[in-house]
Amino acid sequence: MIRKPVAIVVALLAAVSMLSCGKKQVRIAAPTVENYSYAKPSEVAVSHMDLDLDVDFDKKVLTGTAGFLLDNKKKASVVHFDTWALNIRDVVLEDDQGNEKQARFVVGDSLELIGRPLSVIIEPNTRRVTVKYQTTTAARGVQWMTPEQTAGKKLPYMYTQSEAISARSWVPCQDTPAIRFTYTANIHVPQGLLALMSAENPKQATSDGNYRFEMKQPVPSYLLALAVGNIQYRSTGPRTGVYSEPEMVDKAKWELSDLEKMVQAAEKLNGPYRWGQYDVLVLPPSFPLGGMENPRLTFCTPIIIAGDKSLVSLITHELAHSWSGNLVTNATWNDFWLNEGFTTYVERRIDESIYGREYAQQQDILGVRDLNEEWDEIGKDSPDCALYVEYNGRNPDEEPTMAAYEKANLFLTMMEDSLGRANWDKFLKQYFDTFAFKTMTTKHFVRYLKDNVFADDSTRYDALKIDDWIYKPGIPSNAPKLESKRFDQVDTQITAFKQGVGAKGLHTAGWTTIEWQRFLDNLPQPLSAARIQDLDETYHLSEGNAAVQRSWFPSVIAANYQPAYPALQNYLMTIGRRFYVRPIYMDLAKTPAGLEFAREVYKKARPGYHPMTQTGIDLVLYPEKKAAP
Ligand code: BES
Ligand code: ZN
Repeated sequence: MIRKPVAIVVALLAAVSMLSCGKKQVRIAAPTVENYSYAKPSEVAVSHMDLDLDVDFDKKVLTGTAGFLLDNKKKASVVHFDTWALNIRDVVLEDDQGNEKQARFVVGDSLELIGRPLSVIIEPNTRRVTVKYQTTTAARGVQWMTPEQTAGKKLPYMYTQSEAISARSWVPCQDTPAIRFTYTANIHVPQGLLALMSAENPKQATSDGNYRFEMKQPVPSYLLALAVGNIQYRSTGPRTGVYSEPEMVDKAKWELSDLEKMVQAAEKLNGPYRWGQYDVLVLPPSFPLGGMENPRLTFCTPIIIAGDKSLVSLITHELAHSWSGNLVTNATWNDFWLNEGFTTYVERRIDESIYGREYAQQQDILGVRDLNEEWDEIGKDSPDCALYVEYNGRNPDEEPTMAAYEKANLFLTMMEDSLGRANWDKFLKQYFDTFAFKTMTTKHFVRYLKDNVFADDSTRYDALKIDDWIYKPGIPSNAPKLESKRFDQVDTQITAFKQGVGAKGLHTAGWTTIEWQRFLDNLPQPLSAARIQDLDETYHLSEGNAAVQRSWFPSVIAANYQPAYPALQNYLMTIGRRFYVRPIYMDLAKTPAGLEFAREVYKKARPGYHPMTQTGIDLVLYPEKKAAP
């Protein structure tokens, strides 16, 4: 029997789920896990959170309280929260009269990935549960950066990444997309640093380091976000702007000068933007993702600041999540394609309306290439090549399937082509409106589609092979055809190159980053050292932007072209975007010498990566070990 465990270690020893409640012995059955969470949304759900946190850069921990208002639908006597490597120090109950008392609670056994349940006994009149806690340095949803790891080199930086199931490593919460809540936060940081959240944000640092946040629209826990650093703001329009370290902020403003247009284009397609402000925070290069759709404040990698606006579709993607995902939310991680697929489709539609059909098609084509590359690896018949994917306990924080993005985009494009753009757009708008601030399952979506688009015409539904698209691997025969004249022109140069034309003889004038990606992704392998050298000396590919480098280094590795290895090493040491470094480590790991080099570099690079990237690369370089090297 244990009361108020003070540390996870204590809780571990006291794994018995027994609590004393008055004179009565109360047993708390270890809660079952559903969709990676101990919460029981249908019984008792959080409706609001008040967060109060100190950000301690020396200890690399967050300390404070999270107070939750409860919606106790079923008069439950216990509420379960998710925690992962948190120290729970105390729990207090408040009743509807405002009276406070100590709660009886237990921190249960740990399950891999899921963490420990924090089970709190509540009473019929319990209105609020306040959890006093501290994070640990193990927090997998937080990256703490030393000043040397930032552009400015003078001040530290920290940020969180909660999706899919890592919010629980920095806030005890009901960590399931099935529960939405509003929140406020008081965040205390060292003077001079700016704190930002997925909420209403300040535009400049305060003199005392105290910040107050409010998020008035209910959001699921995976959209909780915090970033603290030496960050400046530039407005790009009446409701849009960019944040980043001062060294980058003007470049970011230039690259993202179309933000306002993007929001307008998105609204035209999806209906009103419901979150007020739309800003982008450009993070340091170690950010593990391309982008993360934190409401009101997209987090993104600095890789997109390419200097030619050629990579901004990443931002149209995150913006599109303001509808698909943030408004209509996948109910479970198995339904992830409803978040990412609709978003990829809308992303390309926004791209089309601002940058033209050619650009949107180029993005589609690059996407299909990534899809095929993945499918070559996992096999075209893998269940992961369907849209609906049973995760079955796999880690939803890990790199998602390309099908959820690019196959889903082809599917939705097929729907548009078949129904006609006007009809399809009407359906989309209505879908986002009907299910705003709700969750959606694949089954429910199919039902809604049948009811609203096909009435009872099952022949027509079947003719479009919709069930095959959603539930089976592969691409059905009614896939849309993609074409791009600009890529045709690139392909002509690839053919010329294959026929022996030297680098200087290629026609590359006017190519932006995406044309280079197309060219480099399709080079024959392996090339001779002389041809690699010719390309590199002519086009300085090893020193190109990160997107160019990602497409170039596989050729360098396949040819074992050592003169480019210092640049390769530098790339791996500075960039933390998982999607950018993982394939490179995988290529290196194909030969014993490459693996040795990769492990050597990784030893130095790993401490600078976000935990999410670390986990991904650990598996590539140390497949036999479960834990980190
Ligand atoms: N929501 C995702 C990021 C994510 C996916 C986090 C899975 C955790 C688990 C985000 O919108 C995204 O898709 N990011 C992409 C960029 C996009 C343009 C394809 C990324 O990070 O590569
Ligand atoms: Zn996305």
